[in-house]
Amino acid sequence: MFTQKLGIIGGGQLGLLLTQAAMSFPVQVSIYDPNPHCSAAHYTRHFSKGDFDDKERLIAFGSLQDAVIFETESVNAEALIELQEKGVRVISCPKALQWIKDKGCQKEKLKKARLPILDFRYISASEIKSYNDHFPIVQKWRKGGYDGYGVQIIKTKADLKKAKEVDSIFEEMAEIEKEISVILARNELGDIEFYPPVEMVFDPVANLIDYLIAPANLSLKKRRQILHISKEAAEKLKLVGLYAIEFFMDKKGKFYINEIAPRTHNSGHHTINGNITSQYEQQIRMALGLPLGSTKQIIPCLMLNLLADNTKGRTSYKGIEEAFAIPNVQYTLYGKEEVKPGRKMGHAIIMEKTIEKAIEKMNDVRKKLLITSHE
Ligand SMILES: Nc1ncnc2c1ncn2[C@@H]1O[C@H](COP(=O)(O)OP(=O)(O)O)[C@@H](O)[C@H]1O
Ligand SMILES: [Mg+2]
Repeated sequence: MFTQKLGIIGGGQLGLLLTQAAMSFPVQVSIYDPNPHCSAAHYTRHFSKGDFDDKERLIAFGSLQDAVIFETESVNAEALIELQEKGVRVISCPKALQWIKDKGCQKEKLKKARLPILDFRYISASEIKSYNDHFPIVQKWRKGGYDGYGVQIIKTKADLKKAKEVDSIFEEMAEIEKEISVILARNELGDIEFYPPVEMVFDPVANLIDYLIAPANLSLKKRRQILHISKEAAEKLKLVGLYAIEFFMDKKGKFYINEIAPRTHNSGHHTINGNITSQYEQQIRMALGLPLGSTKQIIPCLMLNLLADNTKGRTSYKGIEEAFAIPNVQYTLYGKEEVKPGRKMGHAIIMEKTIEKAIEKMNDVRKKLLITSHE
């Protein structure tokens, strides 16, 4: 059999779910993360501590592996490119990671490929405060943002005072009707598999995905359109690996690509329960050079993020027995030792015949489960 060494860079929630999926294959999993207590570290004896930007350590770690996958864009792309040159299989493609990491370069790539995006311009750190053109405008730091951190809506000139002075893009504000994500896998042969589009419902306060529904509520025509754009993006940008394309659909029904993530995505947790091949298994198949699995969805799913309440301290779960007694719900708790206000502590996948039923059940989960700090 083909026992292989698989390195996973990042042992957070996605790293944990990748580790879980890897257990179905004859592989030895090693985790690389700055935090030895990260979620995935408990499940393997092979752990390397190191920063995501530490090129030398990453190369040392990766050189011991047959294949390397990563759960975060913060990983040093040059290290991964070097590993790939040495013959380590790196999924997703580190060259794509390199341009994706910088939102400015990413937008430029999308623009050159004539893919639909919102208008944007570059604004250097020193130009931010003197900007005096069109409002409202959306500031996005070119580097280092994640989960809404690094994205700010600037409504008026007065708001510029609050804007952080870092190299940014200023992007036209969209009138968003829906946010949709399409996860896809494409291998070196050009074989491509799309997961059915999912609809993300955002919590405007936490600026995080609140819940998502899969499949998205889209007409057949819209579904075809979004998959067509996704295919064009994958082919024109020569994406190899597993990617999530985040879209906005505006009030007129027009799609814009918001951004691309070169990895498994929070909008694909439900693929473990609802689809023949989960996004995690798909990435591992690719890392091992196996054919892509079917992305067919078997049952409608709703995913609810389980967030901590407004306290801080050691994690405590209240109402867990009542919550686990609700039928057709599967919980994943990330095992984070500390809660902070609004911190993402896990997620629940609700599987029902209709999304309406799933929404009812979600409200029940919300009422019953409280993730708070220990008194
Ligand atoms: N141009 C825009 N117009 C309106 N809302 C936006 C715009 N850009 C981002 N947002 C909102 O902010 C969220 C986070 O922005 P995004 O660019 O996806 O950054 P992140 O890397 O943090 O996910 C989006 O999902 C969307 O809700
Ligand atoms: Mg995003």
